[in-house]
Amino acid sequence: MPAKAERALRGRLLSFLDDPATAGAAASHSYVEDGLLVIAEGRIARLGEAKDLLGALPEGLPVDHYPGDLILPGFIDPHIHYPQTQVIASYGTQLLDWLERYAFVEEQKFADPDHAARVAAFFLDELLRNGTTTAAVYCTVHAASVEAFFAESARRNTRMLAGKVLMDRGAPAGLLDRAQSGYDESKALIARWQGRGRQHYAVTPRFAVTSSPAQLEAAGALLREQPEVYLQTHLAENRREIETVKALFPEAKSYTDVYDRFGLLGPRALFGHCLHLKAAERRRLSESGSVAVFCPTSNLFIGSGLFDLKAARDPRFPLRCGLATDVGGGTSYSLLRTLGEAYKVQQLRGRNLAPFEAFYLATLGNARALGLEAEIGSLGPGREADLVVLDAGATPAMAHRRETIAGDLAEELFLLMTLGDDRAVRATYVAGQRLHERA
Ligand code: GUN
Ligand code: ZN
Repeated sequence: MPAKAERALRGRLLSFLDDPATAGAAASHSYVEDGLLVIAEGRIARLGEAKDLLGALPEGLPVDHYPGDLILPGFIDPHIHYPQTQVIASYGTQLLDWLERYAFVEEQKFADPDHAARVAAFFLDELLRNGTTTAAVYCTVHAASVEAFFAESARRNTRMLAGKVLMDRGAPAGLLDRAQSGYDESKALIARWQGRGRQHYAVTPRFAVTSSPAQLEAAGALLREQPEVYLQTHLAENRREIETVKALFPEAKSYTDVYDRFGLLGPRALFGHCLHLKAAERRRLSESGSVAVFCPTSNLFIGSGLFDLKAARDPRFPLRCGLATDVGGGTSYSLLRTLGEAYKVQQLRGRNLAPFEAFYLATLGNARALGLEAEIGSLGPGREADLVVLDAGATPAMAHRRETIAGDLAEELFLLMTLGDDRAVRATYVAGQRLHERA
């Protein structure tokens, strides 16, 4: 028997089928001007033209009608730090000083599980207010911070990746674990949370600066023992960071090689930033199927550099790419704002980021980066009903600019990514439940 319909959404349905950079804009997406999407058991049961489907809806089925709004798959943020919600907007430093002066200070507060629970709840609600329904999240070194995060995510039934930060050197004593304790705590958290409902575990050595060889070895062991878990870390973000890694690992051929030596590369490995890579590093990341995550607002705010999307698409060694906020180095929870800043970064590199490419990245592109495209990132029968409803006339300036667009979808998307933010998010659905509705 087919699953019983719970509700339907009516509006302008937009979903990606493939990467516009390779498939071309026209073949990359599907768009239904007056569409209907029927939800059953938290998934999309069917979708199509409203005029074809409305007549066959079960009597009394609630239909959330969003005339004029775009309905897309929920945004995906593949790199963000939940303990940095009170670090965002910290003045005047670049990476290593920023960590010391701001991030490490706030993260020590997560020794208190009550603080962790309060911040995790704020963070997840803030993601939903911004239309983000899945994220890859750094917690802190405290196992309780991970417990608090997954508990809040499970409560909302959001699909999330998260992990305990591993750091056994180069940080205040209150933020250090040891290779063995980090391994043991990660293993226990994996046993509790990996695959429980919609939760995924990510082994999280912060970066090579704060992990000893023994700790990176332990991270590699966790990945070998638990092939379904992810790895997330930072790579080649800042020049001083790279010099520090070179001094700490003199035997390694490069920063990427440090991680490679410990077996940390692979299709489930997410490397934040990847700004200053040599050709050999790109080749190894490409060969191993690793993911490079572009974090434009963070890269601009911390003054780290300009991500090279063209190099990432070099057909000789193409990199799988994600696009993320990196709050609190990043300055916005909004993937719309993040797309707008990604566009500007590519402008500074003498290139463009076309609107279809940008929205592909925030949805199906990021789902592919996480290997979750069978579950999330597009609108199709069987996909989980994680959805965002977008209003391109959300502010006076947006409504005014929209007057000149005359129904051009690419221009509307570009307006959303240039002027839009949380105010453009009319509603957010998680597994078919509306968890955010704009006041
Ligand atoms: N490198 C190591 N830790 C961090 C962090 O918290 N934020 C950023 N942007 N880079 C890092
Ligand atoms: Zn980060």
